[in-house]
Amino acid sequence: MIKYLGSKRLLVPTICSMAVAAGARTAVDLFTGTTRVAQALKRAGIFVTASDLASYSQVFSDTYIATDAEQVNLGELRDAIARLNALPGKAGYFTQTFCVDANFLQPKNGERVDAIRDAIEDLRASWMYPVLLTSLVEAADRVDSTTGMQMAYLKHWAPRSFNDLELRVPELIGGPGATVPGDAMEVVDALPNVDVMYLDPPYNQHRYFTNYHIWETLVRWDDPPAYGIARKRADARDEANKSVFNRKREMPAALASLIARAKAEMLLVSYNDEAWISAEQMLGFLSDAGFEEVRMLAFDNPRYVGAQIGIHNLKGQKVGSVSHLRNLEYIFIAGPKDKVEAAAAAAAQPAIAAAANPAPSTT
Ligand SMILES: C[S@@+](CC[C@H](N)C(=O)[O-])C[C@H]1O[C@@H](n2cnc3c(N)ncnc32)[C@H](O)[C@@H]1O
Repeated sequence: MIKYLGSKRLLVPTICSMAVAAGARTAVDLFTGTTRVAQALKRAGIFVTASDLASYSQVFSDTYIATDAEQVNLGELRDAIARLNALPGKAGYFTQTFCVDANFLQPKNGERVDAIRDAIEDLRASWMYPVLLTSLVEAADRVDSTTGMQMAYLKHWAPRSFNDLELRVPELIGGPGATVPGDAMEVVDALPNVDVMYLDPPYNQHRYFTNYHIWETLVRWDDPPAYGIARKRADARDEANKSVFNRKREMPAALASLIARAKAEMLLVSYNDEAWISAEQMLGFLSDAGFEEVRMLAFDNPRYVGAQIGIHNLKGQKVGSVSHLRNLEYIFIAGPKDKVEAAAAAAAQPAIAAAANPAPSTT
């Protein structure tokens, strides 16, 4: 799975045990990102619908959630990946933009990305199309030269970037599932009623469209004009590619509206203490939405890798230090009292703080 800001790697077992303990048979992962959480829920036998604004997330969801491993020809997939791995490199837009004008991948790997991505385009009508794209994004991520975000690359090539790009067969999961791509503010009304909805929105200024612009371009394959040292897509400046969750003043009302409109018996909401809204506000949004019981569990986790290595300028020089290297991750649980209690009891990691049924918010 790719390196991803806000990925819930450490919390996945907890979130999954909570949904299972609450007896969930259907679930929505509304800001699915890497699809980690959706994958765990699907593996637990839950019918999952995954959604996100990002093009690459749609492709990951089509691969891991909407493709049923028991219904596809895995031999055909293995053969296709072997053929793609054998293609010679061919420099194109990707190599020039991200490996010559910038140093995100070594040019030898950029040339292979160009050749393989062109060949995948010829398979657009095949069931394998999203699976091969996922395999390519994951392969490129394994040889990149970043800290896990694409606003900048490392001054000196990362050791892994010297490795040869190699596609692997994604570990597909058996069983049905669905992808509903798009903006959560619109998608939420079109989704089916489910037992559990998991919400993990951005809570601050970090934009996924710019932080993962290379994966966006690799999936769209549309060679847009690029700007700045990171060669970001020019359309990153378009309003259509901005999320309300990255706007400090608008985000609280958007989240409150989303929670009120979510069609689910139970909500699980991820949140951390770097968010623009307070934990009290979040508890208020959930109470205002009419849930019988609302609880908050807190978990102490390391921060993302970019924070661990400090603040650097574009020449790779350390220009500052981060204020703290751990942060609190919260999971809010809202729903019928018995199910909320079962979910809270199932939290796999020890929660370090809890609060129940706070006063309604005034926002
Ligand atoms: C914190 S990340 C989710 C991480 C995910 N739970 C995981 O473990 O990989 C937030 C996600 O919200 C998506 N996003 C941002 N604004 C959105 C919007 N308005 N509608 C839908 N998704 C959005 C981003 O693309 C990103 O994948």
